[in-house]
Amino acid sequence: MPPDPPALPEEIAELTDPGHREDPYPYLGKLRERSPYRPFDGLVVVGRHAQVSAVLRDPAMSAARDRAALSPTPQGPRTRNFLHLDPPEHTRYRRLVAGAFARRQVAGLAPRIREIAAELVGGAAGPGGFEVVDGLAYPLPLRVICELLGVPFEDRDLLQDWSAKLSEALDPPIGPAAGRMTTDAARARAAFVAYFRKLIEQRRDAPRDDLVSHLLQVEEDGQRLDDHDILTTCVLLLNAGHETTVNLIANAVLALLRHPDQLERLRADPSLAPAAVEEVLRYDAPVQMTTRVARRAGTIGAAEVRPGDMVLLLLGAANRDPGVFPDPDRFDIGRGPAPAHLSFSAGPHFCLGAGLARLEVAIALELFATLPVRPRLRPGGVVYKRNLNLRGPDRLLIDTDAVRPAPPAAEGPPQGPHHG
Ligand code: HEM
Repeated sequence: MPPDPPALPEEIAELTDPGHREDPYPYLGKLRERSPYRPFDGLVVVGRHAQVSAVLRDPAMSAARDRAALSPTPQGPRTRNFLHLDPPEHTRYRRLVAGAFARRQVAGLAPRIREIAAELVGGAAGPGGFEVVDGLAYPLPLRVICELLGVPFEDRDLLQDWSAKLSEALDPPIGPAAGRMTTDAARARAAFVAYFRKLIEQRRDAPRDDLVSHLLQVEEDGQRLDDHDILTTCVLLLNAGHETTVNLIANAVLALLRHPDQLERLRADPSLAPAAVEEVLRYDAPVQMTTRVARRAGTIGAAEVRPGDMVLLLLGAANRDPGVFPDPDRFDIGRGPAPAHLSFSAGPHFCLGAGLARLEVAIALELFATLPVRPRLRPGGVVYKRNLNLRGPDRLLIDTDAVRPAPPAAEGPPQGPHHG
């Protein structure tokens, strides 16, 4: 009789256990200590900072996930999403999209971000408490990305719904739901595509100063993006760029409320906001993991790697590597210049929206620390999303005594940890 297929090792099955949503770090720490290792054929787990960083920069590691022996059969139409492309094709697309991004000047968005964030934080004053995810974390990045792309204001609720449904499909292909794109997620993707197809047509006829128009115009060395590339990029920007920032804002507010000394420190010196953003990224990564596929045989530390192996990179665990970050479980917004966390990845796929995310969240945290009076977490007010990879609260209920009015916009965005 043929032997039974190997059972999923307990610690890998445990990775998908909802019991770890609240605090996955003790468990991730165990995986990191054990890594790099090969729990079963086809998978290599890597959680130490130096090795995760090296794999992300290694040209022998492909981002084309469907090359993996373990890869589930893709469902639905494949998109040429550059998150999954390798150089040189990746380099070409990325350069074109980065060019369109540069034209829209992220730094120039600061006053508008401040205005939106101030309005949203102002909503915290209600007597029934303030739900931070719905009230601030979701709408801020959504409004910003919609304005950046050129999506009309009245359509943003539609996009919010699609984006949330699609983000569940971004979990890595392990665990009981491996490879199954839910009907909801597939419908959301189809709706996204139909929506942007129309928007692209409109901007082709009448260009504006928005990202969709710039994506239509960019050209380098005779290369342009075709409609399909633009569509895929819009979906990627909305999905990869929206859910992640939502989680970062909610993770940040939660970390600050659970560490009142750090909240007070930020309130007393709001120029610490950019440093606080970096510490939250390290302490509670919004993207917990990513994968690469080995092109060649080799080793990572003592672990053997075979061609076609999927390499699971535990970004959130690497950010708490005690060999790199002293006292890694301590939340400390004053860590100062430190080795880079890996929350925006590293190497050729380093997050294209990192500058925008940093700017948005620094402004949101500065206002959250300074405007609400005595903000505090409602007991039982935190419920986590089911997502394994894009980690963050689904609900975050707080109370506050009042909200101070925002200072005039002319005071400008936070300038960095050493300003003022
Ligand atoms: C806190 C917020 C964010 C986090 C934590 C985050 C995280 C990441 C990570 C980890 C990757 C690389 C994955 C890999 O190497 O496999 C990535 C790539 C990317 N991100 Fe972000 N992201 C954030 C916000 C944004 C925003 C706001 C945008 C754009 C509006 C954006 C656009 C992108 C794009 C286009 C890529 C693909 C880059 C490439 O493949 O070359 N991200 N992001």
